[in-house]
Parts: sequence; structure tokens; C-alpha cells
Amino acid sequence: MIAKKIVIAVGARPNFMKAAALLEELKKHSKFNPILIHTGQHYDNEMSDSFFKELNLSEPDICLGVGSGTHAEQTGKIILKIEKVFFKEKPDLVIVVGDVNSTIACALVAAKLDIPVAHVEAGLRSFDRTMPEEINRLLTDQISDYLFTTCEDANLNLIREGIPKGKIFFVGNVMIDTLLNHIQKAEKSNIIEMLNLNKNNNIKKYALLTLHRPSNVDDSLILKRILSVLFDFSRDIPIIFPVHPRTLKQIRKFKMDKMINYVENISSNEINKVNQNILAIPPLGYLDFLCLMSNATMVFTDSGGIQEETTILRIPCLTLRNNTERPITVKEGTNIMVGNDPDKVMGSALRVLKDEVPKKRIPKYWDGKAAERIVRVLIDKL
Ligand code: UD1
Repeated sequence: MIAKKIVIAVGARPNFMKAAALLEELKKHSKFNPILIHTGQHYDNEMSDSFFKELNLSEPDICLGVGSGTHAEQTGKIILKIEKVFFKEKPDLVIVVGDVNSTIACALVAAKLDIPVAHVEAGLRSFDRTMPEEINRLLTDQISDYLFTTCEDANLNLIREGIPKGKIFFVGNVMIDTLLNHIQKAEKSNIIEMLNLNKNNNIKKYALLTLHRPSNVDDSLILKRILSVLFDFSRDIPIIFPVHPRTLKQIRKFKMDKMINYVENISSNEINKVNQNILAIPPLGYLDFLCLMSNATMVFTDSGGIQEETTILRIPCLTLRNNTERPITVKEGTNIMVGNDPDKVMGSALRVLKDEVPKKRIPKYWDGKAAERIVRVLIDKL
């Protein structure tokens, strides 16, 4: 029997943990010959390589090295380069994950070449088409043959958009597979000590912040509004802020450096001087970030994946957006949508600090077995 050649295409930070769980599962079956392709959308060590190392993800078989650019430049470069790879490799299936530019670019090329496409994390909708990821999600789902979903509302979204039921498979969340596989290792990270968050053998109260959506960081007034309210809140508990490179660029461009305390080298003595305020540091690897998230009093974020991870970790998540493509994290998890209105952000953060957060449940199939379910479908269908 000739093994089926399956391409897993990844490009940006949130793709890597999803691919890790899938690749590990595919490798258990001789029926499949998986090939990992990295588009190079993210390329910095902290945004890419460190994840491969920590997740034990094998080196990509093929790297396209496209780098940054406008949406058209980035998507266009991936399209041109991946088509050549598909011509040569002739895969039996292309798996794309999530909603980044690499996702739609690889799916589009495969669909045009009549190569079946599987979309992992299909059907999520924010219903906000100003968000580039929403366009990527909508289009990828329309041209995919196997749509693997993380929650029941995603199934309903797909059915409403005319996707035949037979193409939709509710399998759960592969990102959570990876989280559950790595949480014990993450707890051994020394990031808490490095950031001086220990006090008399206990972990101090602190909040964790991530911010990178164009809608929050590209407009100076909005960015200032968010940083100001968080700066005020950081008088109550310190805020640790691993900064995405695009956000750091924007903060510097808008001359808002004074609102954060940026320490480039976290092993330096500089850290010890910082007790309160917003302590900004370079992006962290997967295990350090997971450790910080699981010990935090609360998390402020505009990321999609973090809304899911905090739900599993049962850590209150205050999402700095007005909508979410992951409503299940609000309904069943620990997520509270706070937008960027200072009163709402502050009011919710103070309530969380007083422990006024209802404990809810873990969504169905977020149990560490999603990749297994996906591979079972592929064994059956391919
Ligand atoms: C991308 C995804 C977003 C995801 C995020 C996770 C799209 C449309 N957006 O956004 O959905 O939540 O990744 O991080 O695909 N940069 C670096 N080094 C890197 C990568 C990026 O310095 O390794 C800087 C560059 O200035 C670049 C900017 O960040 O122009 C934006 O990178 P890009 O990949 O375009 O989008 P993200 O904001 O990272």
C-alpha cells in the first residue's frame, strides 16, 4: 500500500500548536506520509523556531520563507510558492489550520489544483468582516472538503452558509490537545522566578496581557485608551505583557513607550526593579507562556486561541474586543468580552480581582482527543 501524502501547512504562531497534535497523531499510522510545510509568515525565533523546539515538532520538510508584507503581498507570495510545491509533491490531501493568511493561501491553491482540503478549526465566525481573519475563515471553509469543528455553534454557522452536513465533522479542539500534553512540563518553567513574581514561596497576584489585533494597535487613540486603563489597573496588580513585534513597533511609532516598562532581556537585573506597572517583555515561548497563563489572576487579551486556553485552565479572561468567533468560551468558559471601553475594562477587572467569576464547564470534546478523532475520519475517508 502506498502511504497517502498529507501536507500540513503552517505559517503563524497559533498554527504551530495545532499542527503539533495533528502531526503526532498522523505519524502513528503507516497509512499516512505527512509533510510539514512552513510558509514563513512568522519567522522570528520567538514567533516560530522556539515553538518547533518546545513542541517537539519536527523541522518543516519545506520552508517557503515568505516573511511579512501587506495582506496581498504575503498571500500572493505564499500562493506562488506553494503552487510549485504542490506540483512537485502531488499531495493526496492538504490540511490547513486556523484563520491566518497562510491558511487561505494554501487552501486556495490546493482547491484550484483539485487536491482535497481539510480545514481544522472550521466554522468559527465573529461576523465582523473588517477582521482579516474573518475573510480567511469564510473563504477557506467554502473551498474545503473536510471541515473539522471545535464546537457546535461552528457546525451551525457552516450549515447556514450552505456547507453540506456530510463535510462537517465535530471533533473538538486540537489546540487543547497540545495544551493538555504540555501543561505538566510548563509548570516546571522558571518564568515565575525570572519575572520576580514569587513572594514567600507563593505566587503573587498578577495579570497577563497580549495585544496584537490591528483594530487595537493600529489606531493610536484606541491603543492609548487600552494602555491607559491597563496602566491604571496595574497599580492594583502588576501586568506582564509579552509584546508581539507589530505591537512594539506601534507603541514606539506612537511614542507611547512611557506607558509600559519594556525590558528586552528578562534575565537582567532590570526585572527586579519592576514591581508594578506594565512590565513588557519580548514574546515568550510556548511553555513559559503557558506557565504564566495558568498561574495568572486574570488574562487580558485580543487573541482568539488564548480565549480557549484560559477556558481550559479556568483562568478569567477579559477579551479586549467587541466580538468573538469563539462564543462558547463566554457561554461555557471563563471569557468576558470587555471591548476597549475603559469603564468596562476596569469594572470587570476589579470584579475578577474580588473573585466574582462564575466557574463554568469545559466545552464538549476539549478533552485532548481531537487529533485522534480527525485522524479516524481521515483513515475512513482517504
Ligand atoms: C497573524 C495573523 C493573526 C494571528 C497572529 C498571531 C493574519 C492575517 N493574521 O497576525 O490572525 O492572531 O498572526 O501572532 O494572518 N512580525 C515580526 N516577526 C515575525 C512575524 C511578524 O516582526 O516573526 C511583525 C512584522 O512587522 C509584521 C507584523 O509583525 O509585518 C505582522 O505580522 P503578520 O504575520 O502580518 O500578522 P500578525 O499580526 O502576526
